[in-house]
Amino acid sequence: MKYKKIPNTDLNVSVISLGTWVFGGENWGGAQEKESIDAVLSALDCGVNLIDTAPIYGYGTSEEIIGKAIKGKRDKVIIATKCGLIGEGPNIKNNLKPDSIKAELEQSLKRLQVDYIDIYQCHWPDPNTPIKETMTAMSKLKKEGKIKYIGVSNFDLELLKEIPHFADIATLQNHLSLLERSMEKDVIPYCKEKGIGVLTYGSLGGGILSGKYRQPKTFKSSDARSFFYKYYAGEEFKKTSKIVNLLNEISVETNRPPNQIALNWIWQKEGVTSAIVGCRNPEQARMNALSATWELSEEDINRLNM
Ligand SMILES: NC(=O)c1ccc[n+]([C@@H]2O[C@H](COP(=O)([O-])OP(=O)(O)OC[C@H]3O[C@@H](n4cnc5c(N)ncnc54)[C@H](OP(=O)(O)O)[C@@H]3O)[C@@H](O)[C@H]2O)c1
Repeated sequence: MKYKKIPNTDLNVSVISLGTWVFGGENWGGAQEKESIDAVLSALDCGVNLIDTAPIYGYGTSEEIIGKAIKGKRDKVIIATKCGLIGEGPNIKNNLKPDSIKAELEQSLKRLQVDYIDIYQCHWPDPNTPIKETMTAMSKLKKEGKIKYIGVSNFDLELLKEIPHFADIATLQNHLSLLERSMEKDVIPYCKEKGIGVLTYGSLGGGILSGKYRQPKTFKSSDARSFFYKYYAGEEFKKTSKIVNLLNEISVETNRPPNQIALNWIWQKEGVTSAIVGCRNPEQARMNALSATWELSEEDINRLNM
C-alpha cells in the first residue's frame, strides 16, 4: 500500500480507501453483514486505513457494521463519516443546521462505537442553511474534540471558496472516475493550491470499470446503478464501453486487471489524496487495494486521458 498525507493534518492516508455505501444494502441489491465485515478486515489487512461511510447508507446500517468490524482496532482506522442527508421514509432531505449536525454526530458515534470521528464531512450542500452557520457548528465540534477534522463533499468551487471565512477544512470528497472528470479542471487545482486533501468517490463507476459488464444491464429504480451511476444501459452504455474497451486493452498489455488500471488512473493523479472504492466482499477489497502495489505508465495514463 502507498500513503499520502492530507496537508496540514497528522493523517497519512492509504491511496485506496474503503467505501461502504454498499453495506447499507438497499441501493445495491442487498448486502450480507458477514461479507461486509470480512471486506473491512480484508481491506485493513491490505494496508487500507481510511473507511468512508455515512448515516444515510442503509439508514445507519453501514455505520453499525463498521462499528462491529473495527472493534478493538480503533487506532488502525481513520473514520470518515458524514452529516446533512436526513432520511424521512423514502425521501431524503438536506439539513446542515447546527442542531441537526449535532444530533447526527451523536448517533454516528454510537453506531460506530467510537468517541470521535477523524473526518466529519458535510455530505451535500444544504441550500436552506447559510454556510456560515454550518461551518461555525462544525468548528465547534472540532474544538470539543468530537471530530478531528472537517470535510465537505459535493461542494463546487464557488461554495468551497466561501468556507475559509468560517472554518478550516481538511478534505473535499467529490465524484471522480474515468467516466466523471468534471472536478479535474478547477476543483482539484484549487484544493492543491489551498492544501485541501482530495478524496474521490465512484472510482469504478459503481462497478462497470471493473470490466465485468459485457452487455447493458438494467437495475431496479432504487439501485445506485440506476439513479446515480447512469452508465449501464442505452446510449450511456455505448459511451462507457469505449473506456472499458481501452481498459481491457491496457489490461492485456500490462497483465493487470481493469479495476486496478481505473483506480491507478485516479490515485496517481496529482492533487488526489485517496480514491474511495466500494466493495461487497473481501476478494473485491483485496483486488482494489492491490492497485496500490504498482504504477501505471505515463503513456498509459495519457491514453486513458484521451
Ligand atoms: N460523498 C458522496 O456523495 C458519495 C457518493 C457516492 C459514493 N460515496 C462513497 O464512495 C464510495 C465508493 O463509491 P461507490 O461504492 O458508490 O462506487 P464504486 O466504488 O465505483 O463501485 C463499487 C462497486 O463496484 C463493484 N466492485 C468493487 N470492486 C470490484 C472488483 N474488484 N471487481 C468487480 N466489481 C467490483 C461492487 O459492486 P457489485 O459487487 O454489486 O458489482 C461495489 O459495490 C462509496 O461506497 C461511498 O463510501 C460518496
